[in-house]
Amino acid sequence: MYPKSFFIHTIGCQMNVSDSERMARSLTPLGYVPAVSADQADLVVVNTCSVRAKAEQKAFSLLGQLAVIKARRPEMVVVVAGCVAQQEGERLRQRAPHVDLILGTRAIQRLGPLLQRLPAHSGPLVDVEMGDLPDETDGARLGESNDGVSRFVTIMRGCDNFCAYCVVPYVRGREVSRSPEAILHEIRGLCDAGVREVTLLGQNVNSYGAKEGICSFAQLLRHVNAVEGLARIRFTTSHPKDLTPELIDCFATLEKLCPHIHLPVQSGSNPILARMNRNYTREHYLDKVAKLRNSCRQIAITSDIIVGFPGERRADFEATLDLMQQVEFDSVFAFMYSDRPNTPARLLSDKLPEREKRERLHAVLELQERVTAAKHQALLGSVQEVLTDGFSKRPAAAAEDSGEQWTGRTRGNKIVHFIDAGSRADDTANRPGRMVRVRIERALAHSLWGRLERPHAFGSPLKRGDSCCAESTLPD
Ligand code: SAH
Ligand code: SF4
Ligand code: F3S
Repeated sequence: MYPKSFFIHTIGCQMNVSDSERMARSLTPLGYVPAVSADQADLVVVNTCSVRAKAEQKAFSLLGQLAVIKARRPEMVVVVAGCVAQQEGERLRQRAPHVDLILGTRAIQRLGPLLQRLPAHSGPLVDVEMGDLPDETDGARLGESNDGVSRFVTIMRGCDNFCAYCVVPYVRGREVSRSPEAILHEIRGLCDAGVREVTLLGQNVNSYGAKEGICSFAQLLRHVNAVEGLARIRFTTSHPKDLTPELIDCFATLEKLCPHIHLPVQSGSNPILARMNRNYTREHYLDKVAKLRNSCRQIAITSDIIVGFPGERRADFEATLDLMQQVEFDSVFAFMYSDRPNTPARLLSDKLPEREKRERLHAVLELQERVTAAKHQALLGSVQEVLTDGFSKRPAAAAEDSGEQWTGRTRGNKIVHFIDAGSRADDTANRPGRMVRVRIERALAHSLWGRLERPHAFGSPLKRGDSCCAESTLPD
């Protein structure tokens, strides 16, 4: 008998990417192997996002495409997982009758057992239970199936903040932190298998452990910093209100903690921040930025911005542009406000027209492009520590050089392409996972370009397999 094959579409944030990786791992013991496309797979999972209307539409458009394939191959199993599955639950039966399994955000670990129940079940199975999550202590097993040098480690799930525009608390439930023991066990397992960098994940990582009183996020970071074999630590996402002096100090004291923080500001206007229920002011935010830079001069700060929140006047928007100019973020994700189910902002009056929101979005992106370009220019001639993660396509400008073009990230999370003269893509001694020194020679709009410095090595090559999860995207 041929093995069954699976394909996972992932829409949304890193939490979904991480959940997709978990689903992929849970399918291997059931005899599934990765398929190259949904077209040929026996099982297709659409792991969905509901953060903005566009992300939800994308999920339904993928489900529409799968309906066409399923009409041709009725034996193909279609699973909807993630935030739209949680939000819609039973309603998906009507909207997408070809779906076999509807898997909520806290049912991810039940994928295997539910698939086994499917043949005996008539109609789609729905599991959107929001009950307690088991603490995932499968670190050693995670390590064995490791497929990269850099991995996400979920340290908490859910969110208690209820920002007025945000659907996440409704689809991901209340905040629950994993125990430090389970997290450290998982990270040690990953390091034993060759992982060099971990990104600690949560909707609000810096409130980690606060509710349970287990340990603070800064304490957890200190434990992770002591894990042998680990080279880099990152985390995302932090809420400005929970950025403590103890955590800010970690950037000065923990050598493995990368000098980068993603600190969403959302708006630079106090009345808008209050209506968003963000629990900080523009002044608090600017003060935290100054303290971060005092603690670590070169820290990269990135952010999320929403334009066109209901009632955002011209002056409010200009306050956002002004804050961006003051902070000089390394990069930002900017979004047009989008009405979401169940959220209080949906009921606010003074909604802005699409055209106005689009214009404001362009103004934010244009300003940020200029700031990012200046930041990239300032790195010209510097030597950066880069953790390599793969090969990349060469730009025409690099055609005169021989050798492979590699990609990797600096400690500040900037993407770097570089030529390693003499290396070949099939050369196993040069696999991803090397820590190298690269001299920056060109500043591009979204990345940097450089040349390997010799002697270059900081570490040894690592093993890497192929990922079966396609379309991993940040929220669009
Ligand atoms: N927990 C993280 C990320 C949440 S979702 C945090 O608090 O930062 C990622 C980003 O999507 C948010 O930071 C916000 O900028 C944006 N976002 C969330 N809901 C939105 C909505 N209804 N419309 C537009 N953007 C939204
Ligand atoms: Fe959403 Fe706010 Fe929670 Fe982030 S902190 S997930 S924006 S409710
Ligand atoms: Fe869910 Fe992440 Fe989207 S929590 S709503 S997949 S941004």
